Amino acid sequence: MQMSRRKWIWENLKGRRTLYLIGIIGAISYNILQLTAPFVVSRLIDTFISGENAAENLKNNRQLFYTYILAMVGLTLIRTAIVYGTGMTFESVSQWFLYKMRNFLYNKVQRQDMNFYNTYRTGDLMTRLTGDLDAVRHMLAWVIKTIIESISLFTATMVYFFIMDWRLALTILVLAPFILIVIILFKNNVGQKHRILREKLSGLNTAAQENISGNRVVKAFAREPYEIEKFNEANKEFNEMNKETALTWLKFYPYIETFASLMPVVLLVVGGLFMIDGSLTVGEYAAFSGLVWAIANPMRNLGGVINEFQRFKAASAKVMEIYYSEAKIKDADDALDKPERFAGKVEFKDVSFSYEGSKLPVLNNITFTAEPGETVAIMGETGCGKTSLIHLIPRFYEVTGGQVLVDGVDVRKLKLQQLRKNIGLATQDVLLYSDTIDGNIAYGDEHLPKQEVEKFARYAAASDFIAKMPEGYETIVGERGVGLSGGQKQRISLARALAIRPSILILDDTTSAVDMETEKQIQESLKNLDFPCTKIIIAQRISTTKNADKILVLQNGRITEMGSHEELIAKKGYYYSIVALQMGEEV
Ligand code: GTP
Ligand code: MG
Repeated sequence: MQMSRRKWIWENLKGRRTLYLIGIIGAISYNILQLTAPFVVSRLIDTFISGENAAENLKNNRQLFYTYILAMVGLTLIRTAIVYGTGMTFESVSQWFLYKMRNFLYNKVQRQDMNFYNTYRTGDLMTRLTGDLDAVRHMLAWVIKTIIESISLFTATMVYFFIMDWRLALTILVLAPFILIVIILFKNNVGQKHRILREKLSGLNTAAQENISGNRVVKAFAREPYEIEKFNEANKEFNEMNKETALTWLKFYPYIETFASLMPVVLLVVGGLFMIDGSLTVGEYAAFSGLVWAIANPMRNLGGVINEFQRFKAASAKVMEIYYSEAKIKDADDALDKPERFAGKVEFKDVSFSYEGSKLPVLNNITFTAEPGETVAIMGETGCGKTSLIHLIPRFYEVTGGQVLVDGVDVRKLKLQQLRKNIGLATQDVLLYSDTIDGNIAYGDEHLPKQEVEKFARYAAASDFIAKMPEGYETIVGERGVGLSGGQKQRISLARALAIRPSILILDDTTSAVDMETEKQIQESLKNLDFPCTKIIIAQRISTTKNADKILVLQNGRITEMGSHEELIAKKGYYYSIVALQMGEEV
């Protein structure tokens, strides 16, 4: 269950709560201190200018005069210091909150499972981590401060007015509800707009992010004008919504402004009448007229505050959604602790699987075993479920029926971290980081010595082309491996998977883009790895599958043939037809 926003913020202020409260007390005190000047001025006037003994006081009581002046200067200085300290406090606490929360959310996102990434768009997640979080920080730093300021100034002034003359105070209380009604109408109106505005911003970010990452496709299809138009559209929608939100405030503003401007006039007239009938001294009237702004301004501020508060509400809902999201795939409470290296046995027992939200099963009754050290090849036409199958081993997805066991233990009973540390996976679409080649290969083990990096590159038949790169292993490959060919990327990804010396090596079509000769080299080195390793290899080429201990043929999510190269040829089924086809091509 989600907590309320207030509780969520309070919970996460832990560690800075006292400081934040000090900030709030600071804001209250400097606003009460606003009353000093008008109060002292009223005393000065009544004692030295217009009071009964004014002339005499001025002559004989100079001391008191200086005391008043000194008090005023002193309190003003103190007030300035408090304003400064309070500003710093709000700023530093809110920045601290932003920093901590952003790290926390990033961590959350990072630990999510595949379904999460399939659900949320990158641009939207980025918006949550940047713009939305900033709106939350703004709430802590500015909105709350302004609310406290307005309330304390208003209340302090009201109390002072009550003490001076309760009828004056009452006049204000009669006028105030009008402003409140306008404010409430505004609040309801603008809340919805902020929610839409927030979606438009996310749409804008998504459009930008997708086009920038997909720039090659855009260029290949010469779709720049279309994409620019699409972005323009998103930008325009955002812009228009932004204007509309701002205009909403402008629609309500005249009413508030009229009330806020009329109020001082009414008050000055009423106050003037009281002064004339003698119930208010000249000094009090001066203090009073010097303070009517303290009643009008908080009301004016209210509009801005409500506006920002609605922005915060829309943004915090998005942030809190990630904050409270839980990865569905996580360690079981009774997960087995298995810190030692796995033997590498992989077993599928009557496994069936379908993706969340789609009823159609992708895998049915999959049963096979890969003994430690064995090589299992998986073959089958595109879309038959090969990638889905191997993704069940590191538990990227949860089976919908049956069991996947590693070393005889159901993967749901293993610790994710320990399970995945034992699996070297080279995925079908290769993703490299914008880092050096060395850094990419050593990704799973950053302390890997240089000669080891080179050894694994050799295993992956990558050392030759790396040596030819301008800076060898120190060459920086761009985002997602820009600057490398498809086959080169595959080989670096293979070296990266090998470099963690996994007990289970999973290759998803990893040699599809390399030539026959290079592939042969890779097959050779995979046979002679200097560590024990079970290999599960998805491949289309007979040259890869023929040396496997076991070949699985997958058709429509079912294993239709299983056995060694010779056995499957003898069977004269799908595998045989593929062999015939590929041999035919080679001749
Ligand atoms: P190739 O890599 O093309 O050789 O295919 P494959 O055998 O690896 O197929 P894969 O396991 O990727 O897909 C099997 C089926 O699952 C296909 O019909 C896909 O449309 C479907 N599929 C794959 N990934 C997802 C996913 O993330 N969500 C959903 N709903 N379906 C998916
Ligand atoms: Mg695949």
